[in-house]
This record gives sequence, structure tokens and C-alpha cells, in this order.
Amino acid sequence: MAEFSKGLAGIVAGQTSVAIIDEEGGGLQYRGYPLNQLTEKATFEDVAYLLLHGELPNAAELKAYRASLKAKRDLPSALKEALERIPASAHPMDVMRTGCSMLGCLEPEGADRDQGAIADRLVGCFGSMILYWHHVAVGGTKADVTVDSEDTLAGHFLHLLHGEAPLDEHRKALDISFILYAEHEFNASTFTARTITSTLSDFYSAVTGAIGALRGPLHGGANEAAMALIERFGTADEAEKGILESLKKKDKIMGFGHRVYKVRDPRSDIIKVWAEKLASGSDEGKRQFEVAERIEQVMRREKDLFPNLDFYSAIVYNRCGIPTPLFTPLFVMSRVTGWAAHIMEQRADNRIIRPTSEYAGPAVRDVPALDQR
Ligand code: COA
Repeated sequence: MAEFSKGLAGIVAGQTSVAIIDEEGGGLQYRGYPLNQLTEKATFEDVAYLLLHGELPNAAELKAYRASLKAKRDLPSALKEALERIPASAHPMDVMRTGCSMLGCLEPEGADRDQGAIADRLVGCFGSMILYWHHVAVGGTKADVTVDSEDTLAGHFLHLLHGEAPLDEHRKALDISFILYAEHEFNASTFTARTITSTLSDFYSAVTGAIGALRGPLHGGANEAAMALIERFGTADEAEKGILESLKKKDKIMGFGHRVYKVRDPRSDIIKVWAEKLASGSDEGKRQFEVAERIEQVMRREKDLFPNLDFYSAIVYNRCGIPTPLFTPLFVMSRVTGWAAHIMEQRADNRIIRPTSEYAGPAVRDVPALDQR
């Protein structure tokens, strides 16, 4: 029998051509392209196309892809009605999970709707879904989610959230964060999507399950928890004291550490530059960045741990005026491209995912009669 590995650590659970985490070599690559080159030379829509189609689009393909995503922003009225009924107290990730599942009832996968169409539909409309609910829940308004003046997902999200055209640098920072969040091989939510797919279930079920996996603070929910952590401290000195106390209590510090990376998360270096850039524009931003950098120093010194993508992403999102509970839904909007690529890959060479366990229960025993229990 194969050896047990808690949390499947170090287990090779499948093959993929979508992405490789190569910490020693070129860092993270999507279909062979290094992530730092993608953030320099491509946009999120290029990357989404790359993940879903295997190659980067040319100029005409990119234009057509952007237009097709734009045409998929509006939501069916039955979905809007369902979103209107979700209470304002709900967590936005529950809204995403419910909205995705509801869309699967209204626009099911079948003969007239294939997996590629569903992937594009979800990429195109997840931003509309969360912000339609957000505007109803926060302000009681039923927003027009189409926002024709914005061609990109990042622009659409920020414009729809704030009701006005965003700053170019905010649009760019969000676009970069979408590229960084898009794909990460066999992370927990992607593995969930692949496991559901392996039973020959439908596309929406796989994505809905993946949203549930992403919600937890050990995975996608860490970006919200990281913001809460940074906001706890007024100064860098306070942060140092607070983190030392937390470490003494053996608390996990959100936004640090990683299952696969052991030295550094290359995505963090890229987003940190944007966090500093956006934070430098205000006193509040400068304070947040100083606090964050001190937390990073203390974590390196005390635990030899490094920030992961979620840590400085939190500052980027906060500086773009995005409410903290919407941080993990942003992760969904991006990672759905990676999930979709993996669902398609799993389907193309499927075998049901069904590992075995090491039994740790009582030895075999006889069932006593009812009056003897
Ligand atoms: N804060 C404090 N200590 C941490 C830590 C953190 N964020 N991450 C790991 N460690 C410590 C663990 O306590 C453990 O120490 P020990 O050997 O003394 O018990 C050691 O580092 C190994 O960590 P472990 O939890 O076994 O790693 P894992 O591979 O099972 O978990 C994470 C990886 C990402 C879940 C974990 O690092 C974590 O919980 N990080 C915070 C949540 C987070 O940011 N998630 C987003 C990931 S992109």
C-alpha cells in the first residue's frame, strides 16, 4: 500500500499542461510562459485566452475575445431576482457560490451550450454577479451591469463598483492581480474542480465546488484575512509587537507561507511593487505599507516565512477602494479561467479521482443487541 501523506503533501496527483510551479527555475509558468513576462507584456484577457485555448491570442483574436466577454456581462432576470433575495449579511463568497449554481439551472450545460461557452460566460459575468448583489445589498439599487464604456474585466469591475471610470493605474493594478491569480496547478480549489469533473459531473458543479474550496482562509480567503491583520495595527512598531504575540500563541499569520513554495512566492514580488505604488499616494496607504513591510520582516526573522500573493494583494485592493469582503470574489473572477482549463484537461483524459485512506478506527467488533448498548 502507498505511503500516507497528510494533506496529500508531496503527492503527484495527476498530470497537467496548464501550469508549472518551478521555484528553482523560472518561477511560475502558464503554458510555458513565465509569469513575470505575462504581467509585463499581456493583459488578463490574453492570459484567460491562453489558459483556455492553449496559445496567446493575436490582435484580432484578442479583440474578438474581449468583445465576446463583454457581450456576456448581463445576467438573466431570474438570476437577478435570486441575487436580490440573498440577505445583505451573506458573505460575498456565498453569493458567488449560489449565483454560479443558479446560473447552472438557468443555462445548463448540454447540446446547445458546450464547456467553452460556459467558461466564457462565467469569466464574462462573475463580476456582474457579485456587484449586482453588492449594490442591492448595500444601497438597494438594481445596477445596470453592462458598463459599455469598459472593455476589460478589470475596468468593468471597478467602474461598476464605484459608478465612475476608474484611474488607469487602478485598472492596471487590478489587471495584474487577475493575471497573478489566474492559475496555480493543483491548488485546493482546482483539485476540487478536477475531482468533481472526474465523476463526469457538469461544469457548473465543478466551479461551484471550487468556489466553496476557495472560500476558506487557508486558501483564497487569506486575502481578506490579511487585510484585517494589516488594519489591526496603527504603526509598524505595533505590528511587530502584535505579530510576536500571535506567533507566541502559535497563531497562523494570514498571507504567509505556502504548501509548494519554500523560499519565496514569485507572485508576491510582482504585486508588492503595485501595492507600494498605490499606497504611496496617501498617508493611510503609506501606513498600511509600512505595517505590511514590518510584518514581512518579522515573519522572515522569526519563522523564515515569506508573504504569498494574498498579502500585498490586500493592499492593492484596499487602495482601489474595494471593500474587503469582495477580495475573495475577485480571486474567483480570475481563477475561474484556471479552473476551466483544468476541467477541460481532466475531461480530455479522465479517470475518476478516488484515492484510498489509511484506516485509524477501532478493530473489527460484533454489533451488540439494542438492550446491551
Ligand atoms: N503563520 C505562522 N506559521 C506558519 C504559517 C503562517 N502563515 N504558515 C506555515 N507556518 C508554520 C506552521 O505552523 C508549521 O510550523 P511547525 O512545523 O512548527 O508546526 C510550518 O510552518 C509548516 O506549515 P504547514 O501548516 O504544515 O504548511 P502547509 O503546507 O500545511 O500549509 C498554508 C500551507 C498556506 C495553508 C499555510 O502556510 C498557512 O496556513 N498560511 C496562512 C494562510 C494563507 O496565507 N493561505 C494562502 C495560501 S496562498
